[in-house]
Amino acid sequence: MRVKVWDPLVRLFHWVLVGAFLANVFLTQPGKLAHQWMGYVVAGLIALRVVWGFIGTRHARFADFLPSPGAVMGQVQDMATGRRRLHEGHSPLGALMIFNLLFTMAALAGSGYAMTTVTFFGVEWVEELHELLVVWAEISVVVHVVAVVVESRRLGVNLPKSMVTGYKTLR
Ligand code: HEM
Ligand code: HEM
Repeated sequence: MRVKVWDPLVRLFHWVLVGAFLANVFLTQPGKLAHQWMGYVVAGLIALRVVWGFIGTRHARFADFLPSPGAVMGQVQDMATGRRRLHEGHSPLGALMIFNLLFTMAALAGSGYAMTTVTFFGVEWVEELHELLVVWAEISVVVHVVAVVVESRRLGVNLPKSMVTGYKTLR
């Protein structure tokens, strides 16, 4: 069964966010103007996504993937026991990671911006916070991508493809 799950805004948001994040980790000079602008792109994307989380299409809404402890444990049990239960939208564990990524990206942009203000310019703990968030974001992204690959294989659903085409093929 081929079902439409991700609208164009979610997909565009995802891949532009990937590009902007990677650009600031690998391409731009830390603190330089290009770095700041990429950071603002990230901030803008998160703001847009938060609004879309309330008014967007069905599976884009936060209400559609608010993870409950029971649902999270259910998915962990599924993974441990090899039970195959498909999720049309985000899975409970996936949802936890998504909220983590949204918060972390917002905090990255916020701490980065703070370094450009009169109040926080040159303040060491703000710089250290920014660097700590970078490390946390990198760890999160690696776990996110590994989880996407593991769940794609376990469930037999090509999740990265769905983030490109917008459709999941559920068998
Ligand atoms: C949101 C995505 C962002 C990412 C992934 C990111 C990533 C990074 C990385 C990897 C560094 C180098 C840290 C190190 O030296 O270990 C850095 C430094 C820095 N970033 Fe960002 N950044 C982001 C947003 C921003 C924004 C929005 C601003 C400012 C408007 C900013 C300003 C700075 C400054 C001033 C430094 C230099 C800090 C220092 O040398 O102590 N960043 N950032
Ligand atoms: C910088 C790296 C990345 C960041 C910051 C990131 C962030 C996110 C966020 C915020 C979402 C939630 C989407 C939404 O509902 O708006 C998401 C979902 C998703 N991401 Fe990423 N992502 C990254 C890299 C990747 C990569 C490289 C892949 C492909 C292998 C990928 C595949 C997916 C998939 C398949 C989903 C949907 C999962 C599901 O079916 O529930 N992501 N990602």
